[in-house]
This record gives sequence, C-alpha cells and structure tokens, in this order.
Amino acid sequence: MTDQPQTDSKPKKLFIKTYGCQMNVYDSERMAEAMGAEGYVTTEVAEEADMVLLNTCHIREKAAEKVYSDLGRLRPLKAAKPDLKIGVAGCVAQAEGAEILERMPLVDLVVGPQSYHRLPAMAKAAGEGRKSVDTDFPAEDKFDHLPTRDLPKRGPTAFLTVQEGCDKFCAFCVVPYTRGAEVSRPAERILTEARALVDRGVREITLLGQNVNAYHGHDGGLGGLVRDLARIEGLARIRYTTSHPNDMDEALIAAHGEEPKLMPYLHLPVQSGSDRILKAMNRKHTAEAYLRLVEKIRAARPDILLTSDFIVGFPGETDEDFEATMDLIRAVGYGAAFSFKYSSRPGTPAAERAPVAAEVADERLQRLQALLTEQQRAAQTAMVGREVEVLIEKPGRLPGQMVGKSGHLHAVALSHPDARPGALGRVRITASNPNSLAGEWLGA
Ligand code: SAH
Ligand code: SF4
Ligand code: F3S
Repeated sequence: MTDQPQTDSKPKKLFIKTYGCQMNVYDSERMAEAMGAEGYVTTEVAEEADMVLLNTCHIREKAAEKVYSDLGRLRPLKAAKPDLKIGVAGCVAQAEGAEILERMPLVDLVVGPQSYHRLPAMAKAAGEGRKSVDTDFPAEDKFDHLPTRDLPKRGPTAFLTVQEGCDKFCAFCVVPYTRGAEVSRPAERILTEARALVDRGVREITLLGQNVNAYHGHDGGLGGLVRDLARIEGLARIRYTTSHPNDMDEALIAAHGEEPKLMPYLHLPVQSGSDRILKAMNRKHTAEAYLRLVEKIRAARPDILLTSDFIVGFPGETDEDFEATMDLIRAVGYGAAFSFKYSSRPGTPAAERAPVAAEVADERLQRLQALLTEQQRAAQTAMVGREVEVLIEKPGRLPGQMVGKSGHLHAVALSHPDARPGALGRVRITASNPNSLAGEWLGA
C-alpha cells in the first residue's frame, strides 16, 4: 500500500450484484456512491473488479442459497487475483453474519443493511488484510452518513427509500429480523434528496419501504409526503411500494383521487384469500376487509391498477383455503402479481409447522399463476386502442425502438425521434404482447 492520494492512483473497480427487492437496488446505488467517494468506480464485469459485493436476499430458501453458489463461483477469480476483496451485504448478511465467513473463507467482509455507512471503513480494513462483520442496528440513520446524491445526470426513474423495517411479523417472513423495526426517514431529508434527483434528470420517483405506507416521517403520513413531493417542479410521477393493507389510511387513499402526479397503480399484497390462513399468517386482516379496502381505493381512483403477492402451500392450507384465494383473485381482478410457493425460513413461527406436500403446492401454484396470467393479459388487452401517457426510459431491443412505462407501469415499446429518455408523451396503444405493450407516439 502507498500513502499517495487516491487521485494519483488508478481508480479501483467495484462490481455489485443485487438480489431481492427494490430496497436492495436502492441500497446498492447508495453503496456505490459511498464507495465512489473512496475512489471506486463501478464495473459491470466481475472479472475486472477489485471488490465484489453481493447485496443479498433472504426471503426464500432459493434466494439465500443462490448467494452461496455465486460465492463458490468466485473462487477461481479470487485464486487468480488474491487482492480481490469480496463482501456480502443485505439480508443474508444480516441473518447469517459471521457464519458466512466460516462457510465461505474467501469472504472479506459481511455488512448488514443498517450498517452501510460503515462499508468504506470495512473495505479499507479488508485492504489491510482484516476481515470484519457488522450486523448492528445502530441508532443513527445509515442514509445520513452516506454521501448526498449530488452526482452526475442519470436515467429518468429512481427509487428513494423513505421507510425501512417491519413490525408486522407475518408468520412466514424473515424481513422483521433482517431489516429490524419500522423506521421512517424525516420528510425534509426525503424532499431534499428528491430535489437532487430531479436536478440530475429524474422525472419519476418510486418511494420505497418494506411497509412504505406505515411511513410516519411526515405529519400527514405517506399521503402528506406524496403531496409535498408533488410540488417539486420537474418531478412528473410518484409511485410507492410495498404497502400493507392495514396501513392504507384515508389520506393516502384520498391522494390517489386528488394528486395527478401519483400514478394509478398500487401493489397491495394480500398473500391469501382464506381467513383461516390469513390468521395463521398473522396478517391481521380478513379477505372481506381487503375487498372492502379495494372498493374504497377504486372509488377514489377508478382506473387504478392493482397488483399483489401470493403465497401458496402455507402450512395448513387446504384445498378449500386455496379455492378461497382463487375466489379473491377473481373478485379483485389484478393487473399483475407475484406468486410464490411457501418456503420455510429458519427462525420464523411458521417454520415449526407441518408443511403442505410439495406436489400439492406445485399444482396450486400452477393454477394460481394461470389465473393471474389470464388477468394480466386481460388488463393489457384492455389498453389496446387507448391513449396513455408514457415516460420514455431507454432503448428497446429493436433498432430505433424505445421503451417506457405507462401510468399503470405497463412497459410500452415504440419508435419516434422525439421519444428520448426522459420524454413524457401521449401514446396510442396498438398491440399487447406477453409482457409489454406496443404503441405509437402521438406527441409530448
Ligand atoms: N413487505 C412486503 C413484502 C415483503 S417480501 C409485504 O408485506 O407485502 C415480498 C413477498 O415475498 C411477500 O409479499 C410474500 O408474498 C413473499 N414471501 C415472504 N416470505 C416468504 C416465504 N417464507 N415463502 C414464500 N414467499 C414469501
Ligand atoms: Fe414480511 Fe409481513 Fe412485514 Fe411484509 S408485512 S415484510 S410480508 S412480515
Ligand atoms: Fe429480500 Fe431483504 Fe428485500 S430478504 S426481499 S432483500 S428486504
């Protein structure tokens, strides 16, 4: 090691692989920025990197195990390049901590999601041959200690974490353990960060939180924050995710009806349509209460597109319970949804319960996904012939093609010289393809 200032040396390269949810995507960006201040530039090529950081997810067994197989695949790289530093961040880091070092001695540092402001110091220690593990839940806000986002121009859409953690303790879920208790960032900081993003070219911000609508960093809750954000000139669109049905308050529902910048889209996971299973999951609401909530939201914003998450094969789920879920899906009519086979997670209450047979769960998942796919197609087909507003994001796969998102978050592909990234225009939908729409640009 030399004592020369970093400006004299070649920048080090950082490769980050992100697993799991959007909150990890946001954290990865912030970690890249924090390491940027230490002289690191990011690379898309792991082989070029001086440091590889895996930002991991612990939500299902498969996701967590993938991290270990990916670490295994880094072995030859580390053998060829002994100076390469390997870090594990995210929810697996939080859940397994020092065990990761035991199982995978090639790892140099393990940093939990609340300790990212300590990453630069940990990377420095790794450079000096010292391994470290930090999985504290410190009292300070990690984002306060990460550099501000006063950086170069960027794409038209951005994530912004406003809330972290979860106090709900659904019986299947690791998040309350990996991300800790619900914490909201103060509204003023979020507004400052949002303004800086808009100055960098961002036109659409998606507010993130494990329970984003439990946000209480503003007197008016998330609805109040949305209204303040909507006053930022240049910011065209606001979204938020993920919401818990029990935290959808009147003010937020009203904002959907009154605030044009708030997009007509809501991800509102229900998990199951059976009251017995909802109770066993500790969701603290019934299917009926969820349906009433959906009605209320649609009364405020009739064209809102709803999406959800579902778990099939939760311990104790009978055929009748599963049919109740299918009924709920039919009653709501979703625009899209994520569905998962229940995965037993160590340390969660449901892990103690007898599982549903794998074949039964597989068969249910297939039926459920077929129904959801049908609903997704129907929602997309219903757009054909309609005029929507599209925010252009990036080039598509075909030459000259651009891709953007409609208010309903449908991907829309089109070609027009004015359809440049960041442009917001009116588009006529001409066709529905399996996972996107095609359209023609009518003008800004
Ligand atoms: N905070 C969000 C989502 C958290 S995780 C919410 O409350 O909705 C994202 C999704 O993963 C969950 O909605 C759930 O459907 C799924 N999930 C969580 N734990 C799981 C498990 N043990 N097995 C299968 N799916 C799970
Ligand atoms: Fe997990 Fe439930 Fe919290 Fe969502 S609300 S993060 S599913 S415990
Ligand atoms: Fe996964 Fe952690 Fe997000 S477990 S889904 S990365 S909060």
